Amino acid sequence: MKIRILGSGAGGGFPQWNCNCNNCKRIRSGEMNGKARTQSSIAVSSDNINWLLINASPDIRAQLEAFPAIQPKQGLRDTGIKAVLLMDSQIDHTTGLLMLREGKPLDIYCSEMVKQDLTSGFPVFNMLSHYCTVNHHPIPVDGSSFTIPAIADLRFYTQALKSKAPPYSPHRHDPHDGDNIGVVIEQISTGKKLFYSPGLGELEDHVMTAMQTADCVLVDGTFWTENEMIDQQLSKKKAAEMGHLPQSGSGGMIEILNTVQNTRKILIHINNTNPILDEDSEPCHILAKNGIEVTYDGMEIDL
Ligand code: MLT
Ligand code: MN
Ligand code: ZN
Repeated sequence: MKIRILGSGAGGGFPQWNCNCNNCKRIRSGEMNGKARTQSSIAVSSDNINWLLINASPDIRAQLEAFPAIQPKQGLRDTGIKAVLLMDSQIDHTTGLLMLREGKPLDIYCSEMVKQDLTSGFPVFNMLSHYCTVNHHPIPVDGSSFTIPAIADLRFYTQALKSKAPPYSPHRHDPHDGDNIGVVIEQISTGKKLFYSPGLGELEDHVMTAMQTADCVLVDGTFWTENEMIDQQLSKKKAAEMGHLPQSGSGGMIEILNTVQNTRKILIHINNTNPILDEDSEPCHILAKNGIEVTYDGMEIDL
C-alpha cells in the first residue's frame, strides 16, 4: 500500500493567511527551520494507478499538481482519483470537493451524518449536483468493513470517534455516531494495516485496539498543549473542545503512542501554532526521541 501525504497541516494550513503568530511570522520571514504545509488530506493506493482520496482540502489543486502519479494519463479528461472517503464534514476536509466539479460523477464514501451536513449546513453535495453530481455511498460507523470496487486490494474498517460536528452542522450540540470517523485500511493481499485519524479527541478502546494492530498509525498532531490557542491569545477554545488530543502532558498522544509497540507512528493535521513545526525546537526533539515522525506535504509511506 502506498500512502501519499497531500497535505499535512490543520485547518488554515501553515502559514495561515491572516496569522502573525510566532510560527507563521518566522516561516514567512525565513527565520524558522521548518516547512510550509497545505491542509489535511491523503491519497491511498495498492497499485499506484487507482487512488482513494481521503478528505478533500481547499488546497487540493496544488496538492494534485505536485503529485504526478494521480494526474491525467490518457484521453482528454482523466484522473487517478477513483473515489473519495470523508472523515468528517469540516471545511478543511470537504471544500476541495468543489474543486473537483469539472469531472465525472464523484463516488463519495461518508457516514450518514456527514452526508446530512453536506446537504444542509454546508450543502456541497447539493451544489455539486449542478456540476458533476455525487454518488453517495454510506459507510459503517461500527468498525465493520467495506470495499470500493475501483480500489481493488484495499479493505476499509470505519468506526465513529467521540468528537464534534462542525459549527454549521444542524446537530453541532447533539453528537451522533459518524460525525467523525477513524479508518483502518488493510491491504488484502499483504495483510498490512494503516490506522488514519486526523482528528482524535479521545483514546477510546476501539482506537487503542486499532492502533495496536496497525503497522502504521497516522494520527492527530494538531496541538502540542491543551491550551495552545488560548496561551497564544488566538482563541478561547481548548484542544479538547475542538476534538483534538494534544501531544504533550499526562494522557497526551506521546504517552499513549508509547504504549503501542511494533508500529510506525506518524502525526498529521499539524496546526500552525504547534511548536513541533520548528524542527530545531525542543518539542520536535522530544517527538524524535519517542520515535514519533511528523508528516510533511509530499511525504510517501510504503506499507
Ligand atoms: C479542526 O480540525 O479542528 C478544524 O479543521 C478547524 C477549522 O478548520 O475550523
Ligand atoms: Mn481540521
Ligand atoms: Zn499562526
